[in-house]
Amino acid sequence: MGKFKPHDGEIARLVIERLPEFDCHCHILPGLDDGAKTLEDSLYLAGRLFTYGYKRVVCTSHSSFLYRNIPETVVPACERLQEELQKNGIPLSLTPSLEYRLIPETWPEHRRRGLLPWEGNHILIELPIRQREQMGEINPVEEIRSLVREGYQPVLAHPERYLWASQKDYEDLFEAGAAFQRNLGSVEGLYGDAPAERAKTILRWGLYTFLGTDTHDKRYTDFFDWLLGIPQGVDNEKED
Ligand SMILES: [Fe+2]
Repeated sequence: MGKFKPHDGEIARLVIERLPEFDCHCHILPGLDDGAKTLEDSLYLAGRLFTYGYKRVVCTSHSSFLYRNIPETVVPACERLQEELQKNGIPLSLTPSLEYRLIPETWPEHRRRGLLPWEGNHILIELPIRQREQMGEINPVEEIRSLVREGYQPVLAHPERYLWASQKDYEDLFEAGAAFQRNLGSVEGLYGDAPAERAKTILRWGLYTFLGTDTHDKRYTDFFDWLLGIPQGVDNEKED
């Protein structure tokens, strides 16, 4: 996590005006990955997202080396959290899915077993953050092409965080059919200076389609509170 930048009211206004009602990237399910740890955490994060104006959230728990989630873990967890949201008067609608990291330990098995898309055919794909070598023999451009051929819409999670990627890498992934998803706060320094610069470059190229929060814990929502100029502890009125 990068250092917070001085508040820029112009950026905050721009972001809040453009904030979608739909978050396609969120680690809100409790206990499944490095996101929410407890139900209490999940309810807190859900309350903040609702306060920012979100109405629907795709629960994209990691499928990675450390967190081997599969549809059988996220679907029941999502149903349970949906019930708890209802009990607690937080009107967010949840959809179960996964954030699929393209690594040999998990991705080929998901391809064999079947994917869990959102919006019918969207699949959130993550590449390794630090070393592209973690993909082994997997060629991400080929994987994107193959998903598109099968009728899926691959969505590339936070391309601004792949500092190893060249302009040609981005162009190849985009031309293969990946939609690019920027993380809320990346331009303003949530992930540090280099990803912020990279996000601005990708914005200039006009390649982003989606804005996701990638919310993991309170550090993220504290940043969003600051970014959006919302005092902490101020909630939208919840439903009874
Ligand atoms: Fe994520």
